[in-house]
Amino acid sequence: MHILVTGGAGFIGTHTLIELYKSGHTAVVVDNLSNSNPVALHRVEELINQSQVTGHRSQVTIPFYHTDIRDREGLEQVFEKHRFDACIHFAGLKAVGESVEKPWEYYDNNIGGTLTLVDVMRKHGCKNIIFSSSATVYGDPVEIPITENCPKGQCTNPYGWTKSMLEQVLMDIQKSDPEWRVVLLRYFNPVGAHPSGRIGENPNGIPNNLMPYITQVAVGKRKELGVFGNDYDTPDGTGVRDYIHVCDLANAHVCALQAITRKCGIGIYNIGTGHGYSVLDMVKAFINVNGVDVPYSIKPRRAGDIATCYCNPTKAKVELGWQSKYGIEDMVRDSWNWQKTNPNGYPLQAE
Ligand code: NAD
Ligand code: WQD
Repeated sequence: MHILVTGGAGFIGTHTLIELYKSGHTAVVVDNLSNSNPVALHRVEELINQSQVTGHRSQVTIPFYHTDIRDREGLEQVFEKHRFDACIHFAGLKAVGESVEKPWEYYDNNIGGTLTLVDVMRKHGCKNIIFSSSATVYGDPVEIPITENCPKGQCTNPYGWTKSMLEQVLMDIQKSDPEWRVVLLRYFNPVGAHPSGRIGENPNGIPNNLMPYITQVAVGKRKELGVFGNDYDTPDGTGVRDYIHVCDLANAHVCALQAITRKCGIGIYNIGTGHGYSVLDMVKAFINVNGVDVPYSIKPRRAGDIATCYCNPTKAKVELGWQSKYGIEDMVRDSWNWQKTNPNGYPLQAE
């Protein structure tokens, strides 16, 4: 299939491009580079072209458009040049804390951008979309492990609301026009990096998320990790999450594409491993597997955090034929491999 990948230069997008080409698909990327670097896409091409398993006969170049998804004319031009079978829609802003400071920017970018994208898609007869949703839509979940039947909850920040609202928008559009096929993938906590160490997570400024903070402490860029609370009702008192290797997550999109052609309507899937690990489990695994130190101290709880969040991923296994393959050791090893070989992330100049 020929796939439009919005936000394809980002963390999850780049890993997904590799999985797409591995499975014989081709892609076009639209990204405004607000949180990414074109070097990442060059490295994706390099990895695809090195790979023996893609089956692509000539050197692969992935068409890239430096375009904002809110730019209707820009999107129109992309759709006039290419005929897409489906869109995998990653483009969006994702920093929880920033969304509290800049709610308008988040609603405009994430909701405004998706509305424009979907409008241009339907105009050009492309009505298959896989949308990056998040476990955050469950709020403080009423059951653990979380199944897709668990009701959505109150989000604690505008970022979370954009995901929750966009799920509703896409479901309403599908209901009004059954030609649409919509897959909502609710990611749990993506970590890790491609095993080559060539692509990975490249946060701007101080990382919000646990794993990039750990790797930046390990590489000496930050003094110590603050562990946000050790008085939760969890086995060791620190927060428990369902960390998933980004390559497993990327592969879920390929499985969703196969399913989208078989099945009409709406599919909602949890994409996690089904295992919950605490903050200290992650820190200890990182130290043991990688043999590096990660100094940490206990800090107060972070506002908006919940104690425990992990899923039951059975529905994705049964209906998409997807399941995670990587474990916690792979996640901490690959995260460190990326960080230590790219201590400052991607270079600012083209390689
Ligand atoms: P990322 O920031 O690395 O990638 C997002 C990409 O979208 C970036 O390359 C950015 O430049 C681009 N972008 C943003 N706004 C755009 C716009 N208006 N037009 C065009 N491009 C735009 O983030 P990621 O971690 O790869 O996340 C991908 C998607 O998955 C996002 O929608 C995110 O909300 C969602 N998600 C991420 C996580 C996570 O923890 N990483 C968890 C759940 C859901
Ligand atoms: C994980 C655990 C923290 C940093 C967020 C978003 C969610 C989704 C994934 C996009 C928690 C603890 C963290 C630190 C710490 N993103 N922690 N010290 O909060 O589960 O989910 O990212 O959709 O929407 O909310 O992930 O990595 O920030 O935190 O102790 O410096 O690590 O308290 O228990 P979270 P996280």
